[in-house]
Amino acid sequence: MRVLILGSQGMLGQELVRVGTSPGREIFAWDKIDIDLTAPDALEKIRAARPEIIINAVAYNAVDDIEGEGWVSAEKINAELPGRLAVVARELGATLVHFSSDYVFDGESAAGYAEDAEPQPINAYGRSKMMGEDAVRMSGANFYIIRLSRLFGKPAVSVNAKKSFVDIMIELGRIKKTIDLVDEERSAPTYAPDLAAEVYALIDTHAPFGVYHITNAGACTWFEFGKEIFRLTDSETIASPVAATNFKRPAARPRMSELLNTRRPHLRSWNAALAEYVKGS
Ligand SMILES: NC(=O)c1ccc[n+]([C@@H]2O[C@H](COP(=O)([O-])OP(=O)(O)OC[C@H]3O[C@@H](n4cnc5c(N)ncnc54)[C@H](OP(=O)(O)O)[C@@H]3O)[C@@H](O)[C@H]2O)c1
Repeated sequence: MRVLILGSQGMLGQELVRVGTSPGREIFAWDKIDIDLTAPDALEKIRAARPEIIINAVAYNAVDDIEGEGWVSAEKINAELPGRLAVVARELGATLVHFSSDYVFDGESAAGYAEDAEPQPINAYGRSKMMGEDAVRMSGANFYIIRLSRLFGKPAVSVNAKKSFVDIMIELGRIKKTIDLVDEERSAPTYAPDLAAEVYALIDTHAPFGVYHITNAGACTWFEFGKEIFRLTDSETIASPVAATNFKRPAARPRMSELLNTRRPHLRSWNAALAEYVKGS
């Protein structure tokens, strides 16, 4: 099977390459240094590779920046590109795997959000991801849209790589005595290797096309997440719970955005995945 992975040096993309490498698959791993997907000839290059599966792990994720001048990039990469890739997938008879976010939801449901809940983003990043989802849905291609939240794992190696919350806390846990963490914005952490394995499980078992919620099981606030990171790393940093209003950020965050998985077996708990990651880092 010919699998094209776009964004292959991103946090998720690199795990999709690593986990997906097997004798039955021919993997094409492309990042921006190989192909700028906003360039005019990008889609032609994809057509020429004739992939059977196109996995789009490309995104513009600078949530606060997108409220301002970052919108131009978010519109191109998050909102418009997925639909173009879906059209290529349809023309080739390929399947598109595309990733979206818990930030497409408004965060006002205390119970969390199932796959068929109505997106209603409250920030520009969420709006750009919703537009990308809509374009894929309307393309007529075979697709998996996989929503995830709070990704962590080995830091990306791409040019604009950012550290995850987990790696930032591991670092701060070595140098800070105390830290304020938001005890709101409950959501489910997602360990990149676990998600990557589940992506291939969907593909290999020919799961029905459509929208999936794939995160590790359970959910937590940033405070609860941070406290567990400090505990697992034997850090003496004391975390204090604070309200979201203590941090002024350009983009509004959903208060509660746990993605409910009603379609697939659940992944292991986020605590178990975090313990494995921390042990290896
Ligand atoms: N990270 C999270 O917490 C989170 C939460 C919810 C959903 N998601 C979704 O999960 C998916 C994967 O996220 P991630 O955190 O793994 O992303 P990431 O680490 O930021 O990786 C994105 C990759 O896309 C590449 N890219 C950007 N613009 C490109 C272009 N014009 N042409 C070709 N490649 C380009 C980047 O390269 P450069 O670095 O060189 O620009 C980078 O390698 C995304 O759909 C994201 O929206 C992530």
